[in-house]
Amino acid sequence: MKPIATGLALISTVILSGCLSEPTTPEGLFKSKCATCHSLQAGQHKIGPSLNAVFGRKAGSTDYTKYNALKDADFVWDDSTLNAWITDPQKYIGKPTAMTVKVKNKEQRQMILDYLKKG
Ligand code: HEC
Repeated sequence: MKPIATGLALISTVILSGCLSEPTTPEGLFKSKCATCHSLQAGQHKIGPSLNAVFGRKAGSTDYTKYNALKDADFVWDDSTLNAWITDPQKYIGKPTAMTVKVKNKEQRQMILDYLKKG
């Protein structure tokens, strides 16, 4: 029985530490999942376009020059379009994009959207 108990303890440690290492604040999530490529400063583009005041803005409409999937987009960013975009960008638009991140967790998506709303 001992090896099994040790194994179980190991597995739960791995699962627990996995959960604990995920950021749990909106800002922490944005920093870990988005900030490598996005700034919230107006006009400051990194690998991706600035996300300043993204809510209500037309997709692909900043002066960022490297739009690909969003180049000819004709929709506005709101809760539902942003939610679908960050769930799976390529699948949502149906075109290849350098935005490779997929946020599969619903609560995390909501926290990130709340954070963007303030930005
Ligand atoms: C690996 C870099 C990368 C990461 C990480 C990333 N993005 Fe992006 N993002 C991009 C690129 C590149 C584009 C431009 C997409 C295109 O046109 O193909 C983009 C576009 C966007 C847009 C559209 C902006 C506009 O002007 O229409 C939004 C909104 C967005 N990203 C949100 C997010 C959020 C929220 C996260 C974190 C969950 C995130 N991105 C993580 C690279 C990234």
